[in-house]
Amino acid sequence: MEAAFGRPHGPLGRLGGRLMAQGNAATERHLVDAAGLTPADVVLVVGHGPGVGLEHAGARATRVIGVDPSELMRRAARRRCAGLVARGVMRVEDGTAAATGQPDASVDVVLSVNNIQLWPDLAAGLAELRRVLRPGGRLLVSVHERWQPGGADALIAAVAKAGFADARSWRWEPPGRLATTALQLRATRPA
Ligand SMILES: C[S@@+](CC[C@H](N)C(=O)[O-])C[C@H]1O[C@@H](n2cnc3c(N)ncnc32)[C@H](O)[C@@H]1O
Repeated sequence: MEAAFGRPHGPLGRLGGRLMAQGNAATERHLVDAAGLTPADVVLVVGHGPGVGLEHAGARATRVIGVDPSELMRRAARRRCAGLVARGVMRVEDGTAAATGQPDASVDVVLSVNNIQLWPDLAAGLAELRRVLRPGGRLLVSVHERWQPGGADALIAAVAKAGFADARSWRWEPPGRLATTALQLRATRPA
């Protein structure tokens, strides 16, 4: 599971990347749409995997940064988004939720799909994402509901403890036989 989906590498990682690019595509695009991006937004996508959400964000915003600790996934995302990278709209960098490598208050929107369950320290990840968001910036998270311990209440409590405001969550049913219910959340960094 780790090699295929957790921090994809090797042959299993290539297979996992293909499965994620199909199975999670609707969720990735749905969360980008829920963010209501404008061309002025600087967007950070954390744990982008094969890059479906990155590509969708790159068609809507003029600056998009992806960070993922898997070199295999960074390569896959750069291939998928080659035109956006070549035009300077997108950068794909090594990083994690807790260490994004981005300056303070430098992004308008942070997106994370199907990876908070992999962060070794949820509080450290949320603190880092709050640091890089500008005041008023928004955080959007999607996670497989069955993998979120404590459900929506625990997630909302964690983002509130990290200093986010206006947190609200909802459930989303992705299309497809294999897809499972997503728990999604939106919150803002207070101005
Ligand atoms: C299950 S995949 C999800 C990929 C994609 N967002 C999707 O839904 O198809 C998890 C991704 O998160 C990355 N990841 C693992 N640990 C991470 C961490 N601590 N911070 C950010 N991303 C991480 C993995 O390398 C992998 O690309």
